[in-house]
Amino acid sequence: MVNVPEEEARVYAERTKLSRRLFEGNSKLTPFGVHSNYRFVDPYPLYVSRARGDRLWDVDGNEYLDFNMGFGVLVSGHAHPTLVSAMRDAIGEGTIYGFECEDTYTLGGILTKRFGLDMVRFSTTGLEATHHAVRIARAHTSRKKVLKFEGCYHGSHDTLLVSIKPTADKAGDPRRPNRVPASQGVPQEVVDNTLVAPFNDLEATERIVEENSGDLAAVILEPIPMNMGFVPPKKGFLEGLRKLCDKEGCVLIFDEVKTSGKFYSGAAGYFGVKPDLMVLGKAIAGGYPLSVVGGKREVMETIVPGKVSHAGTFNSNPLSVRAGVVTMSQILTEQAYSEAYRLGDELAAGYRDSLADRRINAYVEWIGLSGAVFFGGKRVENWRDFLKCDVGAWWTYYIAMLNRGVIPGGTGPDEQWTISVQHTEDSVKKHLEVLDQVLVKLRESKLTMDLVEAI
Ligand SMILES: Cc1ncc(COP(=O)(O)O)c(C=O)c1O
Repeated sequence: MVNVPEEEARVYAERTKLSRRLFEGNSKLTPFGVHSNYRFVDPYPLYVSRARGDRLWDVDGNEYLDFNMGFGVLVSGHAHPTLVSAMRDAIGEGTIYGFECEDTYTLGGILTKRFGLDMVRFSTTGLEATHHAVRIARAHTSRKKVLKFEGCYHGSHDTLLVSIKPTADKAGDPRRPNRVPASQGVPQEVVDNTLVAPFNDLEATERIVEENSGDLAAVILEPIPMNMGFVPPKKGFLEGLRKLCDKEGCVLIFDEVKTSGKFYSGAAGYFGVKPDLMVLGKAIAGGYPLSVVGGKREVMETIVPGKVSHAGTFNSNPLSVRAGVVTMSQILTEQAYSEAYRLGDELAAGYRDSLADRRINAYVEWIGLSGAVFFGGKRVENWRDFLKCDVGAWWTYYIAMLNRGVIPGGTGPDEQWTISVQHTEDSVKKHLEVLDQVLVKLRESKLTMDLVEAI
């Protein structure tokens, strides 16, 4: 098991017997019993039977207050009543047409206005949309290389499956990181076209870009990396990348698969930096699979049937698109964000106070409705800092919170919490009460653990 105190491991096993049985059965049909590697937890993950509002129930009948929210998908909360009612009607009108529908025009209008885009194309997953964004950038510039940042994740496709969670022994010089394939099966020829730079280090990035001048199609990043916890960009970093891409004539891509739901107009709107292409995903359709690549007209018009491919059977399927219209226009409103932000500030302040009271060497990073706790004390500005975090302490905190009925955030120290529009003062209060009990336990235990790369 992940290295947690014996007592917590025993309680977890006691509470989740049916999950274990399902895992054992499922593992015979499905590698590691899960359909996404990120869901695997040693010795076995929870199996869930239903969810509503800010709560979720596992197959053993345990109730949890949920702050994972489907890895940030459910800023709307589980089964939002407005969405449930709209989708009950929608499903009776057919699930896929093989043609476009009126709602795609409505949603296109909403998204372009809200996120400051000229044009959009829809698909279903974040993976597809970042994959398409890279192809569009390559076709637009007639160049091959793509620069990404160490520790950023953009979906499980080969070009960007590089240096996601490289271990210290493989990562190389922090200011000129090695390109480390994050999976076997990624051809070296593909890795050769992916450059890797340290997040929050503009000077090092500029140097790598200059060395590849004329070959670089795109710079892609999570404007707030949320696959190493929650790492805000330093002042001037995003603006610097904007200038750098303009100078180099390459496409700046903001992967806002996570951040598009965490801010009303995405991180681009929050920080006031406009990329050439933006990728939206996760929260924008309230839990239905919908992703978007969108951006400047001259870049988006690179997509031409027969010349530059963008395709998918389930792209703009009427269910996801209807869910997008309802979510964007009726649920994730500016007013709803301001309330969720207020709760986010309360949660983060509560963490700060409890960590200080219990004298735990950890700190909290957050903006608005999302944030993370880093154990180990040192501020995380990039992947190399993250590698120094106390992962053992994080897993003890996580399992101990689960055992007391709170899912404190995404599954892993590289994840973060999400507060939805259905969370309440009471749910935040309960989270903080449980946190305080858990921090007492944490002080008593001292476990360390290596980071497990589960991509
Ligand atoms: C920033 C970012 N980009 C892309 C993806 C891939 O999205 P999906 O899992 O929908 O393919 C993720 C998934 O977590 C992500 O966090």
